[in-house]
Amino acid sequence: MKRIGILTGGGDCPGLNAVIRAVTKAAINDFGLEAWGIEDGYLGLIRNRMKPLKLDSVSNILTRGGTILGTSNKADPRRFKVSVDRDGNDVFEDVTDRVLEHARARELDVVICIGGDGTMSGAAHLAAHGLPCIGVPKTIDNDLMHTDITFGFTTAVQTATEALDRIHTTAASHHRVMLVEMMGRYAGWLTLHAGAASGADVILIPEVLYRLERICECCLKRSKRGKAFTIVAVAEGARAVDGEYVVDRVVHDSPDPVRLGGVAEVLCEQIAAETHLECRATILGHVQRGGSPCAHDRVLATLFGHAAAKAAEAGDINRLVVMQQGKLTSVPLSEVADQQRIVPPDDPLVAACRAVGVSFGDGK
Ligand code: F6P
Repeated sequence: MKRIGILTGGGDCPGLNAVIRAVTKAAINDFGLEAWGIEDGYLGLIRNRMKPLKLDSVSNILTRGGTILGTSNKADPRRFKVSVDRDGNDVFEDVTDRVLEHARARELDVVICIGGDGTMSGAAHLAAHGLPCIGVPKTIDNDLMHTDITFGFTTAVQTATEALDRIHTTAASHHRVMLVEMMGRYAGWLTLHAGAASGADVILIPEVLYRLERICECCLKRSKRGKAFTIVAVAEGARAVDGEYVVDRVVHDSPDPVRLGGVAEVLCEQIAAETHLECRATILGHVQRGGSPCAHDRVLATLFGHAAAKAAEAGDINRLVVMQQGKLTSVPLSEVADQQRIVPPDDPLVAACRAVGVSFGDGK
């Protein structure tokens, strides 16, 4: 073990630079290894774009949002867009061999893949083809299997909570129903936590299918009680009992092409039509992925980064470092690839929210 590559894949989130810093510093200081930064996730391996990372390269980045290496949520070595045919259709190719050749030529002994389920799926694939990989769990969605938490999540919860708090004051002034849509794909963690933290009146998550009547009932009941406003925290993946996901766009050259978004706007119209209350929708969007990581994420990213460098040195490869019940451990990459950890029906926070009067828009 001499040289480790580091890449950040998928959507960015706060704390990526903190992991890059921890891996690089631990590799150099503790284990006498060389660190190389791979640009734009798997794209850097496909296009052979990499650069050495020295202690100086990772100095002063602990608190910085984004990733100094760049990222991509389109570059999948198994299905990489190489051209567009005469009819305008994308042409894809398996470029795994090219990736393996570039990793060999750069003498990378292991690649630390910092990402979510899509990145881990790519890492498991490369590992199966002989390129040793170690995963680090990243995502604001907190939906990676076998880890209690991913870095980036806590900062995103804080950002979304602050936004909800601000919406709260304007909702009260104008006596409106305010819907705030949060990211999270098919998992409701971000909305559940930010909704709970900000005292939202209604929390709609993908795991609990809603009925429009129940949401309207809640808004009307509140206005009858003299509370002339309602805060509805909506996950982008929330859907009605008899409804479909609301899709914002389809990114054809992405391994996970569907981008959810817009359910808050749909619900806003529906609630206004049913209740005749004044409604507004806000979609928080990518603001949830930006900014400096909170202290908790800086610490978690440092722990994960150090654990990944240690695993590399020990040859403990093809595994994802995870946090389970407060302890750092690891699981095989193959066990996390292409899977999602969603909010279980018996999640204690769901029960606690219900107990303090939050409606999940469900029930007969
Ligand atoms: O997985 C992170 C995430 O921010 C999701 O919450 C969201 O659905 C998606 O990425 C948005 O992707 P993009 O940046 O391609 O719009």
